[in-house]
Amino acid sequence: MYDRRYSQEVLRDRENDIIMNYDAVDAALFDLLELRSDHHLLEVGCDVGYTQRKFELAVERCVGIDINEFAISQNTGNEAIVMDGTAMTFPDSSFDRAYSSHTIEHIPELLKHFEEIARVLKPGGKYVAVYPWELFRGMAATRAAITLYGNPMRSRDMHVNKLNPKKLDTITKDLPITQTYSTLKFMNTPQWLSVWERN
Ligand SMILES: C[S@@+](CC[C@H](N)C(=O)[O-])C[C@H]1O[C@@H](n2cnc3c(N)ncnc32)[C@H](O)[C@@H]1O
Repeated sequence: MYDRRYSQEVLRDRENDIIMNYDAVDAALFDLLELRSDHHLLEVGCDVGYTQRKFELAVERCVGIDINEFAISQNTGNEAIVMDGTAMTFPDSSFDRAYSSHTIEHIPELLKHFEEIARVLKPGGKYVAVYPWELFRGMAATRAAITLYGNPMRSRDMHVNKLNPKKLDTITKDLPITQTYSTLKFMNTPQWLSVWERN
């Protein structure tokens, strides 16, 4: 599913700016991350590096990971690796900050993802995620599903989770991370932003 065509669809979406105001999304993420120049930063689901390229200017090290081999081959950030957000190969406590932009709704094994986030974050570190508010699962991916597959229902193969902060609290309740902030922001469409701190 996550291949050249998928990555090109993300590009088309970004160029049209219809579903999302990507500049507003990036600005909101940036504010919540509270980056410092000595920070090591991780992006999960970086695609070709749209956000990564901006944020890497603010930190000492910024690594993007994505399961899409094509996207990583085209990534123009400083450091990008093909890696699954549920099985990372980084040592424990590698990062001060981590973020994902419209990625967690795509990950079937979300508990494993958060376990990995908790593992690779340093104590006191932060994870910020932006994800869609959806009336029904897949709502925000309907247009992409029509373009890619000619079938709006395939949006549910992409958005495998319909998420909100309360649901994410339930998923992460036994992990050494705490959701400290969440907000719903209208950025062309409604988007959730949530912040977790590593205990
Ligand atoms: C909707 S795109 C968002 C891309 C980029 N963050 C942006 O804002 O344009 C979702 C991205 O998550 C990636 N992805 C999906 N499942 C993943 C996983 N388990 N681990 C890492 N990346 C994943 C996809 O390959 C894709 O690049």
